[in-house]
Amino acid sequence: MADAKERDSDVLALGEISAASAVVGALSEEALCRTDIQLTQLLGIGVQGAKGHTGDIVTLVRSSKGELLAVAKFYMKAVTYEAEHKALLLLRQILKDEPTCSVPEVLASRRVVLPNQTPGGILLMGAAKGVPLDDELIAVGKMTPGSPERLTAMSDLCEAVTMAAQTYALLHSRSEDKSQQQVNEAYLQSFIAQNEDMMTRFEDRSQQDFPALFARLGASFDAKQIRQTMTTITKAFLQNTGRPVIAHGDAHVGNLFWEKDTRHITLIDVPTANQSIDGEGKSRGSAARDVCNFIHKLAQHGSRLNMQWREIKKLQDCFLTSYAEAGGSYTPESFHFFHLRSALGEVTRAIKRDHNLSKGMIDYLNQCLSEASQFIRDRDRHHDDISS
Ligand SMILES: Nc1ncnc2c1ncn2[C@@H]1O[C@H](COP(=O)(O)OP(=O)(O)OP(=O)(O)O)[C@@H](O)[C@H]1O
Ligand SMILES: [Mg+2]
Repeated sequence: MADAKERDSDVLALGEISAASAVVGALSEEALCRTDIQLTQLLGIGVQGAKGHTGDIVTLVRSSKGELLAVAKFYMKAVTYEAEHKALLLLRQILKDEPTCSVPEVLASRRVVLPNQTPGGILLMGAAKGVPLDDELIAVGKMTPGSPERLTAMSDLCEAVTMAAQTYALLHSRSEDKSQQQVNEAYLQSFIAQNEDMMTRFEDRSQQDFPALFARLGASFDAKQIRQTMTTITKAFLQNTGRPVIAHGDAHVGNLFWEKDTRHITLIDVPTANQSIDGEGKSRGSAARDVCNFIHKLAQHGSRLNMQWREIKKLQDCFLTSYAEAGGSYTPESFHFFHLRSALGEVTRAIKRDHNLSKGMIDYLNQCLSEASQFIRDRDRHHDDISS
């Protein structure tokens, strides 16, 4: 078998996308040293729960007896292929020797040229054990509220969320760059620019169709308050970002697998971790990005999957407490910045992409706004007390 380095530089031209299956089959046979391979294609898009939005094709590699041997991901963009490959190797190194959590092992990798002559890639990786956490949310949402089975399932879910929090705390604390006091400015500016873009779109539409749309939903909303609070919280965040870490970057309940029997967490779908790694391999990201994304997605998917608000709140509290107990930390300014950003992003996406804006999403955004405003008021009062 050729070594991984040699294979990686061996670019393969795919005449048709369907040829990808043949390549995945051959790569799997070679890397796993098995010939009884069966492939099941799982398009990234449209799978249950929170899964798959990029459209990259995921193929489950099974033995002829149905045993899951590996997973192959076929990337339509070389940049995502390179990003996921690099991040998997680095994160696996960071979590090395950790019995409770991991990222999939890279078993084989291959650059390809797509039929339209643009470069892409295929990664064959170890299969995450257990089930994605969003499957657990789906299961709880289907049970009768208040029933003993729902209470038991909720307690399992709390345990999984606790371990998820410990995993992120471990990733963040192990990758923390203690020589720096502040997160990289360029990393932050990309989020600030995205926020600016979202707010501008909000303001434009607040002059047009938003009043009628929000009135129809029975929700109230003040675009000026968003601008004001976001500006203040951004300024406060830039003054106290906290130390840089490597963040997963897409920390949602579908990107985390949980195996109950072994109490093991596997983080998958890691290309965005590269945004928090600089050219020299140093950490440059914010821990609050993962923390806020995760608790926000718990709320977003939980409410869509029929979970009660107090159950969602319990899971969010469980996550935040366990994260802190496991040694994870972030500044309150970074928390409010990313918390508000997540809520604003969800409302923006709901309007733009899915047209599924709900009153609940607007209420959630209003709640994030009022928590951030309260934080700023308390902080200013505290500063005034100190200076007087
Ligand atoms: N290593 C793995 N082990 C088991 N299942 C996997 C693995 N990698 C991917 N999957 C399955 O394929 C789905 C899509 O993969 P992945 O999350 O990597 O792709 P994506 O399209 O980038 O998704 P996202 O919407 O989160 O950006 C996952 O939700 C999971 O169900
Ligand atoms: Mg995913």
